[in-house]
Amino acid sequence: MKFHSIVFTFSLVLSSLALSIPWVSDHMVQHLFADPSISKGPDVDLVGLHKHLVSIKSLSGYEQEVVSWLADYLASRGLTVELNKVEDETERYNLYAYLGTTRNTKVVLTSHLDTVPPYLPYKVEEGGYIFGRGSCDAKGSVAAQVIAFLNLLEEGSIKEGDVSLLYVVGEEIGGDGMRTASKTLGAKWDTAIFGEPTENKLAIGHKGIALFDLKITGKSCHSGYPELGIDADAMLVQILHKLLFETSWPVSDLLGNSTVNAGQINGGVAANVISSEAHAKVLIRVAKDIDAVEKLIYEAIAPFEEYTDITFHSKEDATFLDYKVEGFENYIAAYSTDVPFLVTGSNLTRYLYGPGSIMVAHGPDEMVKVSDLQDSVDGYKRLVSVSL
Ligand SMILES: *[C@@H]1O[C@H](CO)[C@@H](O)[C@H](O)[C@H]1NC(C)=O
Ligand SMILES: *[C@@H]1O[C@H](CO)[C@@H](O)[C@H](O)[C@H]1NC(C)=O
Repeated sequence: MKFHSIVFTFSLVLSSLALSIPWVSDHMVQHLFADPSISKGPDVDLVGLHKHLVSIKSLSGYEQEVVSWLADYLASRGLTVELNKVEDETERYNLYAYLGTTRNTKVVLTSHLDTVPPYLPYKVEEGGYIFGRGSCDAKGSVAAQVIAFLNLLEEGSIKEGDVSLLYVVGEEIGGDGMRTASKTLGAKWDTAIFGEPTENKLAIGHKGIALFDLKITGKSCHSGYPELGIDADAMLVQILHKLLFETSWPVSDLLGNSTVNAGQINGGVAANVISSEAHAKVLIRVAKDIDAVEKLIYEAIAPFEEYTDITFHSKEDATFLDYKVEGFENYIAAYSTDVPFLVTGSNLTRYLYGPGSIMVAHGPDEMVKVSDLQDSVDGYKRLVSVSL
């Protein structure tokens, strides 16, 4: 049991929540006491569990209520549940659950409980569609993984030491939850099955990211006498031209081309003034070799080095996954995940799989099809079975 962990079993849930976890308000404790569907532990099915998870607002940074609810739910099913404190000043916790007292398991099923803003309420529509923030990214995966776990347990297919559940916070804001779990949880696994929307296909991998700001500082003057100034806009245009049109970025056989987007550009103050300052935000989706990408970026700014400040916000290499399992189609993800942050020091087999499409995640119409949710339970069960 790690310093940062709080362990509790169901009989102790309510008192330890109330005593040990400052973020649980009186209101919430009363809510937990008052909700018979939790304390009596009747069968909450897949759609019911998904509904609970989606209905609880859990924007990144404010995940406490959903973590508490799920901790309680899992404890009511007889699992041992630990809360793993995220390393920052606020009271935020990841959740780690397993059978009995064996923290190291052959397989860990993992996903994230935070969502992007704004919150969108839970709504079922005709034809078997469930809308709401997090319905696909990633509470669809969370609900399906939990139900897969409980089904396997009920069928007698798993026992203590086989499978654990790890649900983290902060995935959408840089992965502080998974980074903490990786550093402080101290549990070991052979296989990690990550849940993110992959349309129920096994992801081959996903691109990395180089996200940076450019700030060019020149010297303003009257545009009739440009030789008296130093044009920041002109320098930025040349740098961006090089980045966008003249650089051969690394290409991966599996993940395709690296791609460049300069999504935000501004500079100067008026048409008749030589610009003294120009800015751009640039995002490169890295298909492979982040070091080579970084070198090419510095080559593009080299001619203007003394006028240019570059600030990196993200620098992550591409992630390659295990994807050869019979009966699964494959998928290439162009988005980033928590996968690279779970570092265990051993050779972890890593799968990325989940219901729903990334094309609707983060948008106003985020949704998941009930049939896809149901199919993914079977998918997770099969992935666990081949990994035991
Ligand atoms: C990758 O880049 C090459 C060269 O620019 C281009 O011809 C090709 O269409 C690109 N592939 C994809 C999938 O965009
Ligand atoms: C991981 O696998 C590689 C290749 O199979 C092996 O060389 C290496 O020693 C392994 N590392 C660990 C920590 O098991």
